[in-house]
Amino acid sequence: MARAVKKIILPVAGLGTRFLPATKAIPKEMLPVLDKPLIQYAVEEAVAAGIEDIILVTGRNKQVMEDHFDHAYELEKILQEKGKDEALDISRSMLLEEGRISYVRQMRPLGLGHAIWCARKLVGDAPFAVALPDDLIIGKPGTLKQMVDAYDDLGGNIIATMDVAREDTSKYGVITPGARSGNRVAVEGLVEKPHPNDAPSTQAVVGRYILQPEVMEHLNKKAIGAGGEIQLTDAMAELIGNQPFHALEFEGQRFDCGSKFGWLTANLTMATQDPVMADQVRKFINSQ
Ligand code: UTP
Repeated sequence: MARAVKKIILPVAGLGTRFLPATKAIPKEMLPVLDKPLIQYAVEEAVAAGIEDIILVTGRNKQVMEDHFDHAYELEKILQEKGKDEALDISRSMLLEEGRISYVRQMRPLGLGHAIWCARKLVGDAPFAVALPDDLIIGKPGTLKQMVDAYDDLGGNIIATMDVAREDTSKYGVITPGARSGNRVAVEGLVEKPHPNDAPSTQAVVGRYILQPEVMEHLNKKAIGAGGEIQLTDAMAELIGNQPFHALEFEGQRFDCGSKFGWLTANLTMATQDPVMADQVRKFINSQ
């Protein structure tokens, strides 16, 4: 049986240039969708998948995330004094047991692959998950849980994929699909940001992965890939053929919250599903 996935890397060291000026002093991962920052959705999805150790790869200007997952003593004291129990509970109940979240710095934003490599000492020789917090996926169960279930059957490496329009392949990693069983597809090749004419399929990789620790050996080569960055896709591609490698066509709605349009549609979708706000929001949209 495959070794259980108990660790996750959440890379949060990107510059978030598509969201400037909002992301000049505030990390992209602290942008809220309704009332919750993106990073908290990712942590909650990981916990719901049975993952114990959460590793954030941070960079400059990202300290606020450490504060977010810590007590806010002054706030808690005031809420207590004022008897605001519900607000106090929201602030406290999201905290994880001490020691479950670790932070490691990516000192230069050299790419997603480099960010993952920065966590190699914390991962050790265990399989691990990766989630990109700006890829928000609404689904029940959460995508990481769907992937852990697939991993328990298949072992090896699992990546989440979805079908995209051919003209959009140049924004994603794209797989060469092999044998299919339901929503699980063997991966025979992987290429980062292919031109639509060269894309081997329209199955695109989104920000959820379960990987074997050997991927770190390939990241160690620090090969420069698409966009002049150290790409995770290139290191994953080296595992294909040596280890089981599958794509899971996850169930859920995915929003690229690193883009303004994606973030806006995530907010609208969540708002129209919110029991308190839904009617008001629908009324407003219909009036436009
Ligand atoms: P993106 O491709 O969205 O890049 O990164 P970005 O820099 O965050 O945003 P833009 O494109 O400039 O607007 C995907 C994920 O990889 C992380 C990001 O934080 C995000 O979770 N990342 C990217 C790093 O941690 N380090 C890097 O060097 C690059």
